[in-house]
Amino acid sequence: MMTLITFIPETRTFHLSNERLSYLFMIEEGGLLSHLYFGKKVKRYHNHMTYPRIDRGFSGNIPSINERGYSKDTLPQEFSGGHSGDYRTPSLMVKGVTGSYSVDLRYKSHRMEVGKPVLEGLPASFATVDEAETLIITLEDSLLNLEVELFYTIFKNQDIIARSSRLINCGNQNLIVEKVASLQIDFVAKDFDVISLPGAYANERHMERETIGYGIKTYSSKRGTSSHHMNPFLVLADKKTDEFTGDSYGFHLVYSGNHSFEVEKDHISQVRLVAGINDYGFEWHLGAGESFQAPEVLMTYSENGLNGMSQNFHHIIRDNVVRSKHRNKERPILVNNWEATYFDFNEEKLHPIVDEAKKMGIEMFVLDDGWFGHRNDDQSSLGDWQVWEDKFPNGLKHFADYVHKQGLKFGLWFEPEMISKDSNLYRSHPDYLMQIPGREPSPSRSQFVLDMGRKDVQDAIFTQLKLLLDEGYIDYIKWDMNRHLSDIHSLALIPNRQGEAGHRYVLGVYALLEKITSTYPDILFEGCSGGGGRFDLGWAYYMPQSWASDNTDALARLTIQYGTSLAYPISMMTSHVSAVPNHQTGRVTTLEARAHVAMSGVLGYELDLTKMSDSDKVDVIEQIASYKKIRPLVQYGDFYRLKSPKAGNETAWIFVSENQKEALLFTAHVLAHAQPYLSKTLLIGLNPDWDYRLEELPTGQLLGHSVGYFDSIYATQPMKNGSILSGDELMQMGIYNPIVRQDMATQLYYFKAID
Ligand code: GLA
Repeated sequence: MMTLITFIPETRTFHLSNERLSYLFMIEEGGLLSHLYFGKKVKRYHNHMTYPRIDRGFSGNIPSINERGYSKDTLPQEFSGGHSGDYRTPSLMVKGVTGSYSVDLRYKSHRMEVGKPVLEGLPASFATVDEAETLIITLEDSLLNLEVELFYTIFKNQDIIARSSRLINCGNQNLIVEKVASLQIDFVAKDFDVISLPGAYANERHMERETIGYGIKTYSSKRGTSSHHMNPFLVLADKKTDEFTGDSYGFHLVYSGNHSFEVEKDHISQVRLVAGINDYGFEWHLGAGESFQAPEVLMTYSENGLNGMSQNFHHIIRDNVVRSKHRNKERPILVNNWEATYFDFNEEKLHPIVDEAKKMGIEMFVLDDGWFGHRNDDQSSLGDWQVWEDKFPNGLKHFADYVHKQGLKFGLWFEPEMISKDSNLYRSHPDYLMQIPGREPSPSRSQFVLDMGRKDVQDAIFTQLKLLLDEGYIDYIKWDMNRHLSDIHSLALIPNRQGEAGHRYVLGVYALLEKITSTYPDILFEGCSGGGGRFDLGWAYYMPQSWASDNTDALARLTIQYGTSLAYPISMMTSHVSAVPNHQTGRVTTLEARAHVAMSGVLGYELDLTKMSDSDKVDVIEQIASYKKIRPLVQYGDFYRLKSPKAGNETAWIFVSENQKEALLFTAHVLAHAQPYLSKTLLIGLNPDWDYRLEELPTGQLLGHSVGYFDSIYATQPMKNGSILSGDELMQMGIYNPIVRQDMATQLYYFKAID
């Protein structure tokens, strides 16, 4: 018996609902699927809603019905074909034997299933039969002999509906798919803002909010991957919605390739969102009997502001998207040698860093780029995944054994999708390199992309990795990708199928990941692409954590981590303390500020620990001990954004444990002023009736620079450890932010409920 999905035969209406959400649509006259509602649960629906019929003029009508008020051009629909009377952004464009692009989709049938079907070849959210129910609508275009299955999965205990589409060529002629979306949703009479996560290399995912104007605006990537430049995620929020109150709708694409989110405000101010694989350069030949599965979009609604929307995603990602056995496990604190040594290392040089890491309580050593082939810079060896004996004369296992003997786990960097021209792989298989015949492929960081859509290429990489991984000493892999795709072409495909090469690349990488992660389920994977260039849910399915950005500057990280949290849980977001002056910005911040920011994510260190002063080393020991205490709270507590770094001189966020017994507040005061204004931070999520004690959380140096005479008139007043405050005091009255004579002054406050 279905408990989450009902079909009301009288009005041919589908109602998907759990305790908090409702999603309603109906089969309208002529078999069009008309969207009715998505939002807060409607407890008793009395079948009153049909879209009003109004003659709009120049909005054509439906053959055989021919009623002037009934038009595909205005009807809110679930999925809309192009060139058949709906002039808005289509979800589907297919060319059949007639040569036209027209697609006319009508309801054919529907079925319901408990649980959630697997999406063939693609990562997607998963659910047991008790966790979710799925409605599958079949639409058809009888001229094209094309069926479109629309999947709607509603989760019982998550405020999420997962949607995707699948095409089936039921005829005996080839069909050419020019565009296929995963989701379309039409809103009537809503004046939204759009919130997106644009960025760049070393400046990923900062929150951008804007009004929707008439016309179409596309948020997309054409770079072959999800990219630093526009995350595959979008929010439609009411104008009045802020972090704490108001309605918002979030949309998360589970895909790592070219994507697009098209937002259109039409001639009568209705808003349509169409999301999925980007149709730029995309063309898929669907032979007779073949099917095409489009990736999934997770969507949510929250009435509790943007924090509520984010938390809905944090929960589903942690529980039903990250597939690894490390899901919901505390992540090891690591030290990575990249910024410590770059390419200039050998086993002997690394030993002292490992020794120091052990003394500090670090749990894993990660050997970054430069250990393989003959790689001493970024010019060579990608594709040759054999240890370079000049750097490790006794082999890599010898070094890994040393790391393990110190009680640390051993992690290793790979960039499996890439090839250098100076490599044995290229010399023996130049055709593996993605290139357009007759054109010289464009280098980027002097490297090229492997044609991962090819099974023989996937196998060649798997065989190399297997040799290493079978030895069993690798506990963690950092899987990097340091360029985007440019010359998208596969030598394995005939010319008129080149429009498939980009998506086949992504499917090929997923196939390789499927094989590797299932063969080596104990390995913890971290995603990386020049920092956070492939920070998406397709990747999260295989890799529970990802490197958020190559930019480790504490100040820059405020914006990056704040924006990232809009869409992704903290357990996914790795964050490292690095040296100063910072290698990306040249800025000098205190070790304490760097630690506070990094401790707000999955903590790691990325600097030469041996070069730190003795007092800094003591501080690091304290930071690590403190982090171990708060790690479950940070990685798995409820996260709330409090003050945006884009809004002013202050940033704040808070982690609250599910049982409300613990909270960790982070505040940052960016620029010091001679005449400081006073500000307060109001906490959130605590129990108003309980008392909380501020507990000591040693993380290092004392705040503030002492500069003589001014000390007396410019006092530093951090709250005293041991102070007792009630939940309502903290949430209603808040606390004063300390005034500190120092830029980028940060604080961590750890509150524990008193039993
Ligand atoms: C990328 C990563 C870095 C590091 C380098 C190595 O830029 O983001 O963390 O691994 O590659 O080349």
